[in-house]
Amino acid sequence: MSELRSIAHCGFVAMALVLLVCPALCRLAAQAASATPPPPAPPPRFAPTPEQLAIRAASEKDHQRLMDLLGIKELRPGASHDPKSPYAVNYDESKANVYPSLPDPLLLKNGKRVTSAKVWWMKRRPEIAEDFDREILGRVPANLPRVTWEVVGTTAEKIGDVPVVIKRLTGHVDNSAWPRIAVNIDLTLTTPALAAGPVPVIMELAFSNEFMAAIAKSIPEMMPGGPGNEGPTWQQQVLAKGWGYAILSPTSYQADNGAGLTEGIIGLVNKGQPRKLDDWGTLRAWAWGASRAVDYFETDKAVDAKQVGIEGHSRFGKTALVTMAYDSRFAVAYISSSGTGGAKLYRHVFGELTENLAAAGEYHWMAGNFLKYAGPLTPGDMPVDSHELIALCAPRPVFIGAGASVGDGWADARGMFLAESAAGPVYRLLGKQDLGTTAFPPIETGLVDGDLGFRQHSGGHTPGPNWPTFLDFASRYLHAPAAIKTASTEGSNMR
Ligand code: GCU
Repeated sequence: MSELRSIAHCGFVAMALVLLVCPALCRLAAQAASATPPPPAPPPRFAPTPEQLAIRAASEKDHQRLMDLLGIKELRPGASHDPKSPYAVNYDESKANVYPSLPDPLLLKNGKRVTSAKVWWMKRRPEIAEDFDREILGRVPANLPRVTWEVVGTTAEKIGDVPVVIKRLTGHVDNSAWPRIAVNIDLTLTTPALAAGPVPVIMELAFSNEFMAAIAKSIPEMMPGGPGNEGPTWQQQVLAKGWGYAILSPTSYQADNGAGLTEGIIGLVNKGQPRKLDDWGTLRAWAWGASRAVDYFETDKAVDAKQVGIEGHSRFGKTALVTMAYDSRFAVAYISSSGTGGAKLYRHVFGELTENLAAAGEYHWMAGNFLKYAGPLTPGDMPVDSHELIALCAPRPVFIGAGASVGDGWADARGMFLAESAAGPVYRLLGKQDLGTTAFPPIETGLVDGDLGFRQHSGGHTPGPNWPTFLDFASRYLHAPAAIKTASTEGSNMR
């Protein structure tokens, strides 16, 4: 089980991250071999298909291209799941605080303190966003193609005992500037059929069926009905509030690997050319698609587009946080087990590291410039850290969740809590309430009274057990239309 979990946590791109990350870690370990004797080769765990090998090779080639552009010879190895490795992952909090001082979100680059909301909005927030754009996540190109939404199917169904209308949607991305690359966004929207008016919607950034099938054995807690998820599904819990939900497939418009960077929305905008060092990575591309979904909701009378929440887990937890930070139309967010590249402080050396993200299996999530913080520079040299990504969401409410340290340690619940706590001054400056404490709460103790929420559940790598707490938190902000229609009007949302 733990072996399988290690494989899974080595990562698998939507289709084959297992095949990308583990070899990348091995490669980096090999890079360090001049200093230390190489560890014995692990037994082969799987036989990659030719297609998967091709994806890996192309990703490594592009990764090397970025290193050449940056003039970097080698990167430090990431944390290893092998406890015998010299780079074994650290799960000891007393060794985690390697870079104790964080960039101050309320200190301007000119050394002046931010004491008003106006200076935050006009000066400091743009400074932080610029640092994230240039160094960490990459810039979204200025002229992005238009997306035309098509309702490709509408059905009336029941989820549990709630009659719903399900719309399957495709967002057709205008590719007239580069017709060789076709990009479509897959989205489904489910709203209660008997709603008295437009409803709040929670949108999940969903893993593909293929991905879920691949992890079914290694991370069973992520499965609907898996350990810790035995009760009503999150969809049923959302419907019970009188809200609707949407499911967006980020990998429909941007593949989850480096080989795909010359395709999808990133490749389309670059006309099939590779990225520049500050071009957007997949996290921002996936977030772009989430924003396009809101564009659609603004046109659908079943949805109250002012009450749209976003939820994502793991790599999509990172994406949900990026989405929330950059698009103020999202009213509330549930960021689950987002770890490194998400809510966790890069400076908190526990679980997954910056070096893992900068390796060939995950670098595509980030800007090319990000690699240098695993090369000559360190996380301590970053001009920003994740508390400032959370601060970009202010004053809107954010709930951050994770599982137990044994089971979800790779995502580093405490590293995320520390970041959320350090975003507190910005929330307070904008008249909102922070976490209410700087003490890490006992497991299964939700902090949900402020505008920043947090809870560590006792399960593993799953958003499931925190859904009820998140929905209680979100209920302070999202409100279903007052009355329920009579059954005779059932189906009136079907357009
Ligand atoms: C890997 C990766 C994490 C990521 C996770 C996931 O474990 O290292 O950064 O969050 O995959 O998305 O499942």
